[in-house]
Amino acid sequence: MTQADNGRLAIHGGQPARQNPDPPMYPGGMAIAEEEEKAVLDVLRSKRLFRYYGPGETESKASQLEKAFAAVKGARHAVAVTSGTAALATGLHAIGIGPGDEVILPAYTWIASAAAVVAAGGIPVIAEIDETLLLDPADVAAKITPYTRAIMPVHMRGAPCRMEELMAVASEHGLKVIEDVAQANGGSYRGRSLGTIGDAGCFSLQFNKIITSGECGVVVTDSEEVWKRTNMYHDVIAPLRAEYDENELLCGVNYRMP
Ligand SMILES: Cc1ncc(COP(=O)(O)O)c(C=O)c1O
Repeated sequence: MTQADNGRLAIHGGQPARQNPDPPMYPGGMAIAEEEEKAVLDVLRSKRLFRYYGPGETESKASQLEKAFAAVKGARHAVAVTSGTAALATGLHAIGIGPGDEVILPAYTWIASAAAVVAAGGIPVIAEIDETLLLDPADVAAKITPYTRAIMPVHMRGAPCRMEELMAVASEHGLKVIEDVAQANGGSYRGRSLGTIGDAGCFSLQFNKIITSGECGVVVTDSEEVWKRTNMYHDVIAPLRAEYDENELLCGVNYRMP
């Protein structure tokens, strides 16, 4: 849409924002150009291939990505991890999911959404999708049991879930909400970036995603507690890097980005 169109959408005869069709696959990957080549060469030339140390005092690219990602999303914190699946597993641990906890999610998603729940020791419970092809808030409410701890809306193919209704169900039953934003990076719901509405938002930067580095994931959150637990879980040695109370330590794995 351009100014000359007076706000007319392309479907109503306005000028399309894109003059060329999107690539059929790998949208982010096909946009790789000189800027990205330079960024990769900068890393190689600086010999700074690890996020916490290396020659020189330069800030790691992972840390720069986290700051930029949080700023663009309007989130307080972002943590870069190795994949979208790792982001989900980390986010689930961070919001407190553990053995026996039920997490409600749709079957219409990529298998990683449910696999991450299992990886966190939880039990995936499938709820129906509605005519939006996204999680049906009424069926989510019907699937709640005494063991339910969280809802995982999955924003499929760029479309936002009905977050207002889902957040209302969550708040009524004291449940956490973890958004799977792997397929909807850049999307928003009523002016808020997807991923910033629930307790944690989990993104994928895998090769077939809108923004890509081949593999990578990001967890965003506004909660200090969730951020702290995300840090502890995504890097097994993170608790030693910060002043955490030993009673709140979470045993982590290694999902660090370089
Ligand atoms: C909805 C959804 N969730 C999670 C993932 C997992 O992301 P990754 O492949 O980066 O582990 C994907 C990736 O395809 C996805 O489409």
